[in-house]
Amino acid sequence: MTAEAPYPVAVRGPRAAGPPLLQVQGLTRHFMVSGARIDVLHDCTFDVARGEVVAIVGQSGSGKSTLLNVLGLLDKPSSGSYVFDGVETTPLREGRRSRLRGDGIGFVFQQFHLLERRSALANVSVPMVLAGVPVLRRRSRSKELLESVGLGHRLNSQPHQLSGGEQQRVALARALSREPALILADEPTGALDATSSTMIMDQLIDQSRVRDAAVVVVTHDPKVAERADRVVELVEGRTR
Ligand SMILES: Nc1ncnc2c1ncn2[C@@H]1O[C@H](COP(=O)(O)OP(=O)(O)OP(=O)(O)O)[C@@H](O)[C@H]1O
Ligand SMILES: [Mg+2]
Repeated sequence: MTAEAPYPVAVRGPRAAGPPLLQVQGLTRHFMVSGARIDVLHDCTFDVARGEVVAIVGQSGSGKSTLLNVLGLLDKPSSGSYVFDGVETTPLREGRRSRLRGDGIGFVFQQFHLLERRSALANVSVPMVLAGVPVLRRRSRSKELLESVGLGHRLNSQPHQLSGGEQQRVALARALSREPALILADEPTGALDATSSTMIMDQLIDQSRVRDAAVVVVTHDPKVAERADRVVELVEGRTR
């Protein structure tokens, strides 16, 4: 008898949302370590629609971060297909992949990954600097974004002057700065208390409802998974 999952799997099923933004089909990823092949993702197949929040769950080492890196075009699969916004990404060269990533994908990580000794405002501006957004425009947009995550009073604070929950809200504001169609979050609440976790999930869900963004969130937290529209479980590198 198999143990019951500690989170509700496919509780509500897919929302009747728009066309798929992501289509993953028969995706595999292996790594070579000292001449030995390590198969991490064996066969992942799923879609995510615009406006949908999908949680990816599974044991430590099951390949969740590896899968998220592929979805974020930070890594290439070993085989299989990954269509993002109608484009088959697997044959693309780095230049095109990086443009698709910058224009269409926002990332949130467990450990925030903010630039130390830079203000919240400067951190939120980074993706807009890379995209060549004029300075006045990006300053006003960063301010707006920080206000929207409740940090309008901390624009000039540096990461070490902020709590973990506040730093994650800065990271979220940064991820949203270019209004990405896809938001990828790897354990975004892993380092946060319950109140901050709820706040981050509220914001992520809001993005799907208000802006029709697709949100993929890797989590160990049953409370986070149960708020998703759908749960994809990774078991030994296979989705189910
Ligand atoms: N670059 C790499 N080279 C070799 N092995 C790797 C590499 N990246 C990941 N792996 C292996 O792939 C497996 C899955 O790793 P991954 O980080 O995707 O797991 P995870 O599900 O995110 O785990 P956790 O919940 O602990 O974060 C692990 O066994 C890991 O050692
Ligand atoms: Mg991981």
